[in-house]
Amino acid sequence: MSHVASPALALPPAVAQAAPNPANGPSARFFAEIGLAPGMRVLDVGCGNGDLSRLVARLVGPDGEVIAIDRSPEAMAMGHTAEAGLQAAPIRYRQADLAGALPELGRFDAIVGRRVLMYLPAAAATLARLAALGKPGAILAFQEHGRAGLPAGLGPLTLHRRLYDWLWDTVAAEGGDPGLALRLVDLMRAAGHGIEVARSEGVLLQPGEPSFLATLAQAMLPRMIERGVTSADALGLDTLADRLREEHRAAAGTIVWDLAFLVSARIARDA
Ligand SMILES: C[S@@+](CC[C@H](N)C(=O)[O-])C[C@H]1O[C@@H](n2cnc3c(N)ncnc32)[C@H](O)[C@@H]1O
Repeated sequence: MSHVASPALALPPAVAQAAPNPANGPSARFFAEIGLAPGMRVLDVGCGNGDLSRLVARLVGPDGEVIAIDRSPEAMAMGHTAEAGLQAAPIRYRQADLAGALPELGRFDAIVGRRVLMYLPAAAATLARLAALGKPGAILAFQEHGRAGLPAGLGPLTLHRRLYDWLWDTVAAEGGDPGLALRLVDLMRAAGHGIEVARSEGVLLQPGEPSFLATLAQAMLPRMIERGVTSADALGLDTLADRLREEHRAAAGTIVWDLAFLVSARIARDA
């Protein structure tokens, strides 16, 4: 699987500047509440452009350290130039594939990730490898997104639903696991980790506000076509934004587009 817009989604850098990703909204509160403290050493897995790495770097401060890993150098390229701020920990980017053996990275006080386990064909095995990198009692915290029978709203939302299905079908066709987020607490518990936070926040589309969905569809289109999920004609990119806006206007009210699943645990001491 390549770098990745998830249905939830992280967009390629150029696109991300045009349309802020509302799925990142829950991150600031969640990662601030999981016990990250000044001076900690944190591993951010599947860091992409480093947006979450910079957030946790600010939380652990200049005496901390963030190691950010991703298998895609292209995804990480933007991270090298973005500033986390003066009061942030240094961030060191390393290329690494979570599907295989990890390079020597040392031990961590916390291991975090956002929208990454959902893309792995064997997330439980990766979680076990990651837990082995944690110091006893370390934090293991993920924001993941899952296929959860959405979108929900006041109208039939036919086009929104079709787009949602195409996006998740693409993730599944690429070998990702649309159900991972819903099983994450189970996986963590089965590994013996103590769950500390397990909740979900809705990613909402408000009427009259610019929707990021057309931008997202544009970013995902090559992958949807590659996997045979839909065609450019069926998506109708030229008119998609207008049709989505019109459908939302007709439905009125808020659309619940997506759910962020926020799960934090303490690594079992003998992991
Ligand atoms: C949706 S992006 C999320 C990026 C970042 N965590 C964020 O929230 O902004 C998913 C990231 O996971 C990375 N990824 C997917 N599979 C991976 C793997 N097997 N090993 C390492 N990174 C992987 C992709 O390259 C991509 O950068």
